[in-house]
Formats: sequence, C-alpha cells, structure tokens
Amino acid sequence: MSPLVDPFARPISYLRVSVTDRCDFRCTYCMAEHMQFLPKKDLLTLEELDRLCSRFIALGVEKLRITGGEPLVRKGIMTFFRAMSRHLVNGALKELTLTTNGSQLARFAGELADCGVRRVNVSLDTLNPEKFAQITRWGRLDQVQDGIRAATAAGLSVKINAVALKGFNEDELFPLLDWCAGEGHDLTFIEVMPMGEMGEEMRLDQYWPLKDVRARLAERFTLTELSERTGGPARYVRITETGQKVGFITPLTHNFCESCNRVRVTCTGELYMCLGQEDMADLRAPLRTSTDDGLLDDSIRAAIARKPKGHDFDYSRQKVAGQMSRHMSHTGG
Ligand code: GTP
Ligand code: 5AD
Ligand code: SF4
Repeated sequence: MSPLVDPFARPISYLRVSVTDRCDFRCTYCMAEHMQFLPKKDLLTLEELDRLCSRFIALGVEKLRITGGEPLVRKGIMTFFRAMSRHLVNGALKELTLTTNGSQLARFAGELADCGVRRVNVSLDTLNPEKFAQITRWGRLDQVQDGIRAATAAGLSVKINAVALKGFNEDELFPLLDWCAGEGHDLTFIEVMPMGEMGEEMRLDQYWPLKDVRARLAERFTLTELSERTGGPARYVRITETGQKVGFITPLTHNFCESCNRVRVTCTGELYMCLGQEDMADLRAPLRTSTDDGLLDDSIRAAIARKPKGHDFDYSRQKVAGQMSRHMSHTGG
C-alpha cells in the first residue's frame, strides 16, 4: 500500500489523536472558562478510534500521539493504549506517546509504561503554585508534580512543555531550567498561538518570542544546536554547562511547516490537515457507513491530497493574523 504523501511531497508519518475535548483544567491560553463540550454520542468509540488509528498506521504513520483536552480523563482510555500497543509489538509503530497536563499521571503512569509508552510530554508553565492555579484556572501544582514523579518512577522520560508567556513566566526561565536539569527532564518552550478567540490585545501582550528567550539563555550559557529530532516541530539545543536539552517550538518567529509530517484527528473523527487552517475532513461518516476499510482509506487519501502548505499565524504587524476560531483543546495542539 502506498504511504501517505501530501501535495508538497511531505510524507505523513505522525498522527495526533485527540480522544476527548474535555479537560480537568481550563488553561487561559487554551480554553474559555465555560466551555461547551461535545455531546458524548458524537464521540468516536474506543473501537472506532482503534480502527481509525490502525488504518493510519497501515498507511505509514509511525508516531502516534494521544492528546485531548486531557487524554487521561477519557473513560476507558487504558483499553485504547493497550490496544495500540500491539502496533508497537509488531513493529509498525515506532512511538506511542501522549501529551498530558499531568493531573492523572499518578494513577496511570505504570500502565502507560506497560503499554510501551516511553516518554510523555507534560504541560507545565510555572513552578509557582499560585501562578499555576491562575494560569490553569482549576489545576493544582502539587498534583501535577506527583504525576511527574510517578511517571519518572515508572521509567517514563518526561519532557516539560512550557508556553512562553510575557509577563507571566519570564522570570521563571532559569528556575524552570534548573528544576528540569535537577529532575532530568527535557524542556521545550512554545510560542503562544492564536487558537480560540481571546481578544487580540491579550494574545499580543502574552506573546514572548522565543528568539528573545534563546538570547537570554545565551547570555548565561553556551548553546549548541542539535540536529536530532523527535519527529515533532521542536528544534533543540544542548546547554553545555548543565548538559540538558532545551527545545524551541517557534510557529511565529521561525516557521517549521516546510518539514511538516503530521495531521490531527479529533474525538469526533474530524481530520485536520493543519493546526493553523480551518479545512477538515469528516472520517466518522466513512467509519460508520462501511465496515470495509476502502471507503475510509479513500477519505484519508483525499484529505491528505489537500493538506495546505502551512499556517498563517503572524503577529508581526502588531495584529493577530491567522487566528483560528477553534480552541487548542479541539485538536490537542
Ligand atoms: P515531541 O514528540 O516531543 O516532539 O512532541 P510534539 O512537539 O510533537 O508534541 P506536543 O504535544 O508536545 O506539542 C508541543 C507544542 O507544539 C504544542 O503547543 C503544539 O500545539 C505544537 N505543535 C505540534 N505540532 C505542531 C504543528 O504541526 N504546527 C504548529 N503550529 N504547532 C505544533
Ligand atoms: N499556543 C501554544 N501552545 C498551546 N498549548 C495550548 N494552547 C496553546 C496555545 N494557544 C500547548 C499546551 C500543551 C500543548 C499540547 O499545547 O500547553 O503543552
Ligand atoms: Fe504542519 Fe500546519 Fe503545523 Fe505548519 S502549522 S507544521 S503545516 S500542522
């Protein structure tokens, strides 16, 4: 079977699957405080998610990242991880992983490791409990830190994702770095993207370009560019003095779409070919109308054939361009 390749000759090897739009946090840059969630009947069942992911794997996907909302609040999610682990065992899948807020990791880390998950990305923007409560609205820092400890104890590597927010975690650049070095976690900074309406001014006020973050790091440390990649959009440096790896995800200051290898499926079976564009294809209908995979495969291929070149996010004219109406929690980033 020929693998998935988009119109710009980019092979699609990375699938991000959002298994729920719900979350036990309400991070201000990601969700509104009062979100309207999808009715449960609209969600793909775990069996449908299995069938869908398995088709993508048959079509050449080698990296599967489970996202949400918060993926670990989806009922029965370990059954799904367990099912996906068969693709690791037979070698079709190289990596099975997830991006989580960490709140449920204390409960699930052992089982995740057992399913072949080797590393997890945990979102953590601040080490200050009050600020953590402020940015997540509903979250508790100690709960997340317990989760991270449980993950490490279970043998999982943890990568910390911190959204760089001006006036919020600027003063925590070095404390975050120190903490990650001490705990043995990689750390990745992310530029805030205009997903979900939150007021243009607020986004621009929040935006802390990572070229500035990098310059601040370089004042104190020696940074060596690394060529190694995780298959995601981050570019990494090694800090000579601490030995740790730091990643930068720079949709605004340095567009990485050229090497895009990924698409996203939402919990209702919408396939988004780009995080920063509105176009999507419904895969739930072909999943439900036919038990034969032919129709599903055709729908996937037709969608990949219209994958756009990239996003249109741009803050450079003191305006927010490329704004998406959907929230980040809809596609899981
Ligand atoms: P690794 O496997 O560790 O490289 O993870 P990853 O960066 O692929 O995934 P993660 O879920 O940790 O995503 C980190 C951030 O990168 C999130 O804010 C995502 O929204 C963002 N991101 C991931 N893929 C893309 C992409 O294709 N385009 C854009 N603009 N942002 C992306
Ligand atoms: N811009 C950038 N990153 C975001 N995330 C959530 N919303 C945004 C946004 N508007 C991050 C989360 C998580 C990852 C999946 O996406 O912090 O680490
Ligand atoms: Fe790929 Fe779109 Fe992300 Fe660019 S913005 S890297 S094209 S998903």
